[in-house]
Amino acid sequence: MKTAPPTSTKTVRGVTLHGEPAREDCFHVVSTDAEMADWPDFSDQSRRERLHRHMNNECVALEIASQAVVDFPDAPWDLRMAIARQAADESRHVAILFRRLKELGGVKGEFPVSNFEWSVTGMIDNLPGRLAIENRTFEAGLIDILGHLKTTWRAAGDDRTADAIEAILADEITHVRFANRWIRRLTEQNPGILLQVAQSIRFLRGVTSALLPQPGEPNAVGVAYDQAKQQAPAVNVDGRLEAGFTEEEVLEVLKQAGFRSILPEYIR
Ligand SMILES: [Fe+2]
Ligand SMILES: [Fe+2]
Repeated sequence: MKTAPPTSTKTVRGVTLHGEPAREDCFHVVSTDAEMADWPDFSDQSRRERLHRHMNNECVALEIASQAVVDFPDAPWDLRMAIARQAADESRHVAILFRRLKELGGVKGEFPVSNFEWSVTGMIDNLPGRLAIENRTFEAGLIDILGHLKTTWRAAGDDRTADAIEAILADEITHVRFANRWIRRLTEQNPGILLQVAQSIRFLRGVTSALLPQPGEPNAVGVAYDQAKQQAPAVNVDGRLEAGFTEEEVLEVLKQAGFRSILPEYIR
């Protein structure tokens, strides 16, 4: 399950990454968090930016899944079908967020967008490595973030966005779950695949640390980078267990997050 190296690349802060996916001219594409417009408050402008950013990230997830179907024609059929279904889910997520963005007065291209996940995942030439990065790392992180955000939006009085976030979260859990199952299955068949997974995660760690803004570095709207805000999000324990992580794996993530977790529904 290997493919040719990417045909288009870019260099960001000394790291070689996959070139950008196609975007309409209205979008201003950037490569780092420091170039994004990110307000820490929950003003109308910040709400639109959050939806706009999330919308583009869902588009990236759609593109990564679609590219995997194209790049790995010899992968097991059931795995390719799961990835194709994921692509369909991601396209629905883009539409949901675009609709909500417009309801709040936003427009496509209103804020910068970054295709970070595409740029990293596209450099991986094997499917287990891509699943490990996109589904098992980025989307697992999204389970934590959305688990928190659905409450934040509801507390801000925006039930429509909170409902959308909850619907998307339910889908993301299934995307992480099938990746967890397939990585386990493929590894049982060929333990060498663990090496591909480990190399991919090491690559992601290197890129993340190279692109991390410096403490105090201002972003595109002059907000200084706050290291404390960038710590690992509170862990969505229920969501991660539902997504097929073992209790040991969830415990490891909890350790990295300083044992901050989202309370399970049944004890809330
Ligand atoms: Fe999604
Ligand atoms: Fe997803």
